[in-house]
Amino acid sequence: MANKLNVLLLGSGGREHALAWKIAQSPWLEKLYIAPGNPGTMQHGENVNINPLSFEAVKAFCIDKSINLLVVGPEEPLVKGIHDSFATDERVNHIIVIGPQQQGAMLEGSKDFAKAFMARHGIPTAHYQTFTNGTFEQAKQFLRTLKPPYVLKADGLAAGKGVVIVNSYDEASTTLAEFFGGKFGDASRKVVIEEFLSGIELSVFVLTDGNSYLILPEAKDYKRVGIGDTGPNTGGMGTISPVPFATSNFLNKVEEQIVKPTIHGLKSDGIPYCGFIFIGLMNVNGNPYVIEYNVRMGDPETEVVMPRIKTDLLEMLEACGNGKLDKVKLEISQQTASTVVIVSGGYPGTYEKYKDIRIDTAVPQGAILFHSGTALRDGKPITSGGRVFACTGRGNSINEALNCSYSLVNCIYFDAMYYRNDIGKDLLNYF
Ligand code: AMP
Ligand code: GLY
Repeated sequence: MANKLNVLLLGSGGREHALAWKIAQSPWLEKLYIAPGNPGTMQHGENVNINPLSFEAVKAFCIDKSINLLVVGPEEPLVKGIHDSFATDERVNHIIVIGPQQQGAMLEGSKDFAKAFMARHGIPTAHYQTFTNGTFEQAKQFLRTLKPPYVLKADGLAAGKGVVIVNSYDEASTTLAEFFGGKFGDASRKVVIEEFLSGIELSVFVLTDGNSYLILPEAKDYKRVGIGDTGPNTGGMGTISPVPFATSNFLNKVEEQIVKPTIHGLKSDGIPYCGFIFIGLMNVNGNPYVIEYNVRMGDPETEVVMPRIKTDLLEMLEACGNGKLDKVKLEISQQTASTVVIVSGGYPGTYEKYKDIRIDTAVPQGAILFHSGTALRDGKPITSGGRVFACTGRGNSINEALNCSYSLVNCIYFDAMYYRNDIGKDLLNYF
């Protein structure tokens, strides 16, 4: 790299705090801005009050501050075309944008597109068909050919609520009617119905420039709100990396059967791609199947993935933007990282915000406190969302990492705070 970089990072969650934490360690960083950021990202750069969906405002800021590299944290600006908007505007088309253009973002923005992509490129995934209200009868017939439970997915983005798994044909048929009726607006006018895959889930993260790729540390996340994996799904209550059941044999299969055909498929379909791909996988008897693609990093997965990457992230991102990812040697720490998410009581349902937060200054060694849903009131931290903190711990075993995470959890106090006390416990038997 010849010059230091001015970087703008879009987003405001724990993922962005973890990205900011890592970017700020780079000797190649001139100045980091985060829009809009949170009190955590503020420790590593300057927060700027710009909505990531206001593309013109983002562009004007990039011109004003001579930004060299734009990192898009969440999917929505990508699905809505922020990268395309930069690529087609000569004032800003020299800026590296990390995150795909609209076409590539369809891998996350449309389940039907993603499934057709996988079918076309022979990537293992659940058997499926796509229906609309006009083919309701055919949808019911297709359901009859499947064994319960039934998996129904709204085609478009539905704030993480677009996947419904039900046990009876009647519930499936009612859900279909709700989806077609516009439960998630246009996002659910098309529905993917697919075979239920039985196994254990994990996620693999890839950074690609469209030709080369780096496979980042994998992670297992804990989606259910309740102890013992009970209750409703959340954005994520905790995560662990590495994943003990992701053996080198399994990860080789992921690379050969999924990562390579995905990158090759994008290329052969003429879809440029510069950015992260988050591949949600089901391990079915030792074989990987794709559950979903996301075109961004995961949250809270980023909060364990970034701490395990030893390589300079800015160097990786700059190489990615310049199509030189093959020149980067990725180094990963052998340590285990774990994250325990502290949420506002009631989440993912209704919960109260704006609670005063007390943080003990004695944060345990190796631990990192990532802010998700916090804000400042008179300079003091308060809660401002469902997921409030991601408490990352590191250690030489899952147990050590978890002890570190939970010691950090014990440093945080706010009214009605809640967290799962069993993150990673199911994995302890693997050693
Ligand atoms: P998605 O939004 O596609 O990640 O789906 C949300 C969750 O639903 C996944 O994390 C899985 O736990 C579950 N899921 C989705 N598709 C399937 C499937 N075909 N078989 C079993 N579980 C699934
Ligand atoms: N933790 C799941 C996600 O970021 O989508």
